[in-house]
Amino acid sequence: MKSIFKSNENISDAAVAEPLAPVDVIPAEAPVTAAETAPLSPQTITAPQTAEESTPEIDAADADKVKPPTPRKFGPISPSEIIAVVNQKGGCGKTTTAINLGASLAKKGQRVLLIDLDPQAHATLGLGIKVAEGVKTIYEVLMEQTTPAAEAIHPTKLEKFHIIPGNTRLSSAQIDLLSWEGREQVLKSKLLPCLSAYQCIIIDCPPSLSMLTINALVAAHRMIVPIQTHYFALDGMKQLFATVDQTRSHFNSSLSVLGILTTMVDPRTNICKDMIAAIRDYFKNEVFISSIKMNVKLIECSLYGEPVITYAPYSIGALSYLELADEVLERLRAPVFQTAA
Ligand SMILES: Nc1ncnc2c1ncn2[C@@H]1O[C@H](COP(=O)(O)OP(=O)(O)O)[C@@H](O)[C@H]1O
Ligand SMILES: [Mg+2]
Repeated sequence: MKSIFKSNENISDAAVAEPLAPVDVIPAEAPVTAAETAPLSPQTITAPQTAEESTPEIDAADADKVKPPTPRKFGPISPSEIIAVVNQKGGCGKTTTAINLGASLAKKGQRVLLIDLDPQAHATLGLGIKVAEGVKTIYEVLMEQTTPAAEAIHPTKLEKFHIIPGNTRLSSAQIDLLSWEGREQVLKSKLLPCLSAYQCIIIDCPPSLSMLTINALVAAHRMIVPIQTHYFALDGMKQLFATVDQTRSHFNSSLSVLGILTTMVDPRTNICKDMIAAIRDYFKNEVFISSIKMNVKLIECSLYGEPVITYAPYSIGALSYLELADEVLERLRAPVFQTAA
């Protein structure tokens, strides 16, 4: 099989800045109780800007309602895990995965905190959260030394699923952070005290290899890389894994790939089959067995500010993410895979 990478693909030297002396990390101490006490922010129906696509394939696929999967039992994830959903390519399903995997894990009994680290704040909008003036978001958590993450935690419609909302001001934060000492470890130091209150913290990364993404990779134990199954979807993987390798060598040697996730899969098309074969050929068993099928309910649910498992619990989209949640829970107990890059 031909190489999936372009021969002229270069890894930017600027992808990871020179490491600075590590900052002191706040130790995990008292459990975060603000998760229960945080004020409910107004829940609104807000349409994310990316939901304009509608294809006949999606609608046709959605006609096949599916039975809910046989429930499987898993104990709490232990020790707690921070998972970055990362790929610098936009539109590959990061936010959809962060929301719906998080919700599916919460439905299966795990306490989950979602961090919306993208300046576009699509995860926040997709969960129907409108941040009122003066309410803390991940922006304040990162930029204000005196604001702990616990102060910015908001509930969602699912009991065990909480979120620290995003903020468009994050786009300036990623530039401001560049001049800080210990700039790569700000998010990690803020999230560590939350670990005792959650079994899983999921970070929805921006579509770039910016300082925000570096912060996510430094904070994370594992990463999930969604890849959309169409031509050119693998462009940029070398650059992503070079950044991951640099992050490992300077800051976070135990960062590992939890799984490569094929998204927006339409099994009826040859291009999709070819891409899945190419992805499996390269990444081998790092690729999740579960794949996320193309499904219009995954677009609609964000418009209505809900995860798919509450909006359309019997849809193919809901089934896809519940299956993925099972596989994630299995993998978190399995040996860790090494990156193929
Ligand atoms: N499995 C899917 N089926 C149909 N549409 C999807 C699916 N996954 C994502 N989408 C849609 O594709 C667009 C991009 O997805 P998104 O999760 O926002 O990507 P990213 O966060 O990587 O930019 C969104 O409009 C989303 O609703
Ligand atoms: Mg996104």
